[in-house]
Amino acid sequence: MPVTLTVNGTRRTLDVPDDMPLLWALREVLDLKGPKFGCGIGQCGACTVHVNGNAIRSCNLPVAGVANANVVTIEGLSADGTHPLQQAWQELDVAQCGYCQAGQIMTAAALLRRTPRPSDADIDQAMTGNLCRCATYHRIREGIHRASAIAANNDASARDTDAATQEAL
Ligand code: FES
Ligand code: FES
Repeated sequence: MPVTLTVNGTRRTLDVPDDMPLLWALREVLDLKGPKFGCGIGQCGACTVHVNGNAIRSCNLPVAGVANANVVTIEGLSADGTHPLQQAWQELDVAQCGYCQAGQIMTAAALLRRTPRPSDADIDQAMTGNLCRCATYHRIREGIHRASAIAANNDASARDTDAATQEAL
């Protein structure tokens, strides 16, 4: 039966088997290659996407289970690749081979939404299920702290701009 869901802001109706994993629908039907296949059993985090704002493994989640949900992949995280995490990842050169990194960033983005200034312990707890064969864990943690600082700076700049605008009116 066709399944309707919103992917990266666009409403899509997919004529796929109900039990097709969401990851398959994203990669093979919608051609979104950001989410990766790693283990296929919910153990590595390479396939992480957001479903209604939560970081979810898409490899073992039937597409029918996300009917009418709001799904965001790394491709939809920002319009132009300037999400604070994407900026931090570039600045600190976090990725090595890169295979796990879309999943890492999507898990980190959900963490920062919940906890804008995470401690090392918050980060370790949130990221524990995202494996990296290249062992970039240290840079991932630094990247999350850096993204948190970039986001806080963006917020402060936005507040300053608002205040200046109010004054000018
Ligand atoms: S591919 Fe989904 S958790 Fe590993
Ligand atoms: S950067 Fe290679 S698996 Fe994580």
